[in-house]
Amino acid sequence: MSDKDFGLIDRRTVLKAAGAAGLMLATGAYAATSRKRYAVVGVGHRARMYMNAITGKYRDGNEIVAVCDTNPGRVARAVRRISETGASQPRPYAAADFDRMIRETKPQFVLVTTVDATHDEYIVRALEAGCDVITEKPMTTTAEKAQRILDAVKRTGRHIRVAFNYRYTPPRTQVKELLMSGEIGDVLSVDFTWLLNTVHGADYFRRWHSNKANSGGLMVHKSTHHFDLVNWWLGAQPELVHAFGSRQFYTPETAKRMGLQGHHQRCLTCPEKNKCNFYFDLAADPGLKELYLDNEQHDGYFRDQCIWRPEINIEDTMNVMVRYDNGVQLKYALSAYDAWEGYHIAFNGTKGRLEHRIVESAGAAGAGQVQSKSNEVSTRIIPLRGAARDIEPWVGTGGHGGGDNVMLDEIFGDAPADKFKRISDERAGAYSCLVGIAANRCFETGNSVRIADLVTGLTPPDRAPMPDRKAPVPMPIRVKIP
Ligand SMILES: NC(=O)c1ccc[n+]([C@@H]2O[C@H](COP(=O)([O-])OP(=O)(O)OC[C@H]3O[C@@H](n4cnc5c(N)ncnc54)[C@H](O)[C@@H]3O)[C@@H](O)[C@H]2O)c1
Repeated sequence: MSDKDFGLIDRRTVLKAAGAAGLMLATGAYAATSRKRYAVVGVGHRARMYMNAITGKYRDGNEIVAVCDTNPGRVARAVRRISETGASQPRPYAAADFDRMIRETKPQFVLVTTVDATHDEYIVRALEAGCDVITEKPMTTTAEKAQRILDAVKRTGRHIRVAFNYRYTPPRTQVKELLMSGEIGDVLSVDFTWLLNTVHGADYFRRWHSNKANSGGLMVHKSTHHFDLVNWWLGAQPELVHAFGSRQFYTPETAKRMGLQGHHQRCLTCPEKNKCNFYFDLAADPGLKELYLDNEQHDGYFRDQCIWRPEINIEDTMNVMVRYDNGVQLKYALSAYDAWEGYHIAFNGTKGRLEHRIVESAGAAGAGQVQSKSNEVSTRIIPLRGAARDIEPWVGTGGHGGGDNVMLDEIFGDAPADKFKRISDERAGAYSCLVGIAANRCFETGNSVRIADLVTGLTPPDRAPMPDRKAPVPMPIRVKIP
C-alpha cells in the first residue's frame, strides 16, 4: 500500500498536513519545539483515548505528528478528528510506510494500538529506529514475539511502556497498598475469578479477537490484564503454569439450542436477526458505524461477525493454576458468558484474608445490548482472629474504573513519583502475556509449562517493596501431568 491508496482522505487535509510537516522538516523546526512527538500506529477504537488526551488535556506538552494504519479510511478519520481539535495536523501514512513515517516525521514515541499479534512488529521497528514505545496490552501474543521484543530492547537500549491501565484503577491500587502494609501477613495463595457477561464477553467472538492468531485468545488478550495485576499485587514472578480451556458456549450447537437454524456470516445481513438474542446492530451506534462499517470497503473487516461461527478458535471457559517464584499459588478462572460482569479475588495470608470484588454490570439485557452499569466495589480484611473490617474504597472517574485517567496523567502529564511502581516495562509486559501463552500451550498439550522455558534473558521488573517473607520451600516440578 502506498500514499496513493489514501485517495479517499480529503486531499486538502492530506496536502496541508504533508506541506506543513515538510516545511517544518526543511527548516529544522522539529528540534525547536519542546513538545513530545508521538506517532500512532493503529487508529481504531482504543487509539481514540490517546489521541483525545494528547490533543486535549495534555496538548501543551505533547503532539501527534503522524498516524498510520492498514485501513486508509480510519487514517483519514483520525487526521480529521485531530484537526477538528485545533491541534496541528498529523501526517497520514499507510502501514506499509511505517519506517518512512518515522524517518520523515521523527517521533520520539510510537504509540502501538494495533491488533495484538502485530504489536511486536511495530515495537521492534520503532525501537530500531531510535524511538521509545508505548504499547497497548498484551505486549505480544507468542513466546517467539516476546523474545524478539526483549532482544530488541537489549540491543537498542530504548524503552517500552506497556499500558496496564488496570493497575491504576483506584480500588486496585488500594489493594496493592493493603498488601504492602502487611496487614494480612505473607500472601500464600490467591483465588481469582473474572466474569465477562454476554454483552462484553460475546463481543470478543464478533471481532478479530475471535481468531487466536490475532489475539492469542482471551488467555492472552484479556487475561494479560489479570495476570499482570496478580504479578504486580504480589510483587512476584510467575514460574509454572497449568491450565484447561475450551469453547463451550459460543458454538453452533448453542445457536441451535436457542432455536436458531445455525450460524451466519454477520449480524448486519443475518436472516435470523429477529430471532437471535445476541443480535448486534453495528449501524445503530454512530461511533462504531463511522469507525468500522463505513470503512469495510478498504479491508473487508466485519466488526459484527456471527458469534456462533464454527471457525472461531478461542476459548470461552478457562481455568489456570500458577505457581510463583515466592511460592504463592494462584487459582484463576475466566469465562465469557456470565450473568454478571466483574471479578472477585481473595488473598490468603499468614495473618488473614483480603477479599476484593467489583461488579461492573449486574446483568445484560440481551438483544438491545443494554448493560445495567453498576460498579459496586467491596474490599474487606478478615483477620485469622478477630473482627472483619470493611475498607472504604478509593474512587476514580473515567474509563476502566478511573484507571485510564490516572495512567494518562502519568504518561503525558507531570505525575509525582509512584510508590506503587505502576509503570510497566517490557519485563512486566512479558511476564504477564507469557502466563497466557503458557496456558495456551497447556490447552494444546496437557503439559505444565515453565515460564523460563518460553524465553531467555527475562529479569524481574522493578517492584514496590512488599513485606519481607521467608524463602519459599522448594517444591518438585512434575512437568508431565497425564
Ligand atoms: N487497555 C485496555 O483497556 C484496552 C482496551 C481496548 C483495547 N486495547 C488494546 O488496544 C489495541 C487495539 O484494540 P482496538 O479495540 O482499538 O481494536 P480496533 O480493531 O478498533 O483497532 C485496531 C486498529 O489496528 C489496525 N490494524 C490492524 N492490523 C494492522 C497492521 N498490521 N498495521 C497497522 N494497523 C493495523 C486496524 O485497521 C484498526 O484500525 C489492542 O491491542 C487491544 O488489546 C486495550
